[in-house]
Amino acid sequence: MRKPDQQLMNRYPAIADLEAKARRRLPNVAWEYLQSGTGNDGAMTRNREQLEKITFAPQFMQGKLQVDLTTQLFGTTYNAPFGIAPVGLTGLIWPKAELILAQTANTYGIPYSLSTVATQTPETVGPLVGNRGWFQLYPPADAAILKDLLQRARAAGFTTLLITADVPAPGRREKSKKAGLTIPPKITPRLAWEGITHPQWLWETLRAGLPHLRTVAPYSTDKDSKAIAEFARFRFRGDLDWDYIKHVRDLWSGPIILKGILHPQDALDAIAIGIDGIGVSNHGGRQFDGAPAAIDVLPDMAKAVDDKAALIFDSGIRSGLDIMRALSLGADFVLCGKAFMYGCAALGKRGGNHTADILIDDLTNNMQQLGVRTIAALRNRHR
Ligand SMILES: Cc1cc2nc3c(=O)[nH]c(=O)nc-3n(C[C@H](O)[C@H](O)[C@H](O)COP(=O)(O)O)c2cc1C
Repeated sequence: MRKPDQQLMNRYPAIADLEAKARRRLPNVAWEYLQSGTGNDGAMTRNREQLEKITFAPQFMQGKLQVDLTTQLFGTTYNAPFGIAPVGLTGLIWPKAELILAQTANTYGIPYSLSTVATQTPETVGPLVGNRGWFQLYPPADAAILKDLLQRARAAGFTTLLITADVPAPGRREKSKKAGLTIPPKITPRLAWEGITHPQWLWETLRAGLPHLRTVAPYSTDKDSKAIAEFARFRFRGDLDWDYIKHVRDLWSGPIILKGILHPQDALDAIAIGIDGIGVSNHGGRQFDGAPAAIDVLPDMAKAVDDKAALIFDSGIRSGLDIMRALSLGADFVLCGKAFMYGCAALGKRGGNHTADILIDDLTNNMQQLGVRTIAALRNRHR
């Protein structure tokens, strides 16, 4: 595995350091878009609080602890048990973040998930990510668009499909609204002032051009950015039901993960129609403030699913130790959303790699502290 940049590691040894730097570099509107939960941010706060409660009893006298992070998922070997979660409107947070993160995934041998509403296309990102690309589907209502989108993702080399289940309606995201977020961003005096006071972000954004939803754009007859965003909002909500999921199952020959599942019955119904992976997630606390912490659901989910499908966990992961916590409670794989975006916002082009370095270093070190050599041996090691 690639050697970390030691200078960066000394200056920014933890994801929290990247978060603090991202806060300083981003204008409020971009920061609130990235950071916003919903309601009182209860679900988002719970994700962190409940992860922090999980502890381990270490075992010593194990001799030399050479740690092996490699992990098998759906027949593919990944160099680490985590990947990059799909993030929409990515270019608003940091221009070309999709390209930075796809290259990180390729370099580190981990998956990168491209969102339907990212600001780059599968055609651009696919070649960068190699055979480690996952494509996230916000379900289009129109059958022809669905077919075309899947075909584009497949042709661009994406191997695994994530269908997002947990957006039956848009999240309210009150803080994003108050910060003046519109899609595409409207140049108001407030945004202009925020740009001037955050020159690095402004410079990069002006160079890249205002972010818009490039993957969705070909399907909208009106090519104006605002019209495309409206089109995405109304035509990609797709009142999701099991028949639709079955239909996607028939169209996509590779592995499918249903993302955003919190109820064991939904997991069982998904397995019954041939879904390969259950994405245990509360969308990072961005959708439903009444949702449980995703980590609290994991043990019951693991029991119900009983290895009949892979469990892919996300929501609240900020360290290698958090990854260990999720793996111990039953996850087969873990995704990180905000952690990688903090990296891009804090360090631009170097941010994706540095986030991966922090997570790998922290995971390796904590496995040594616990006295465990392999990912498989982490299962049920919490107290
Ligand atoms: C700014 C932002 C945008 C997101 N956009 C999407 C998206 O387009 N599709 C999706 O399935 N999930 C989306 N998510 C949710 C992430 O995939 C993931 O579930 C969540 O970020 C995990 O929580 P974490 O940020 O605490 O790691 C988004 C999350 C963030 C922070």
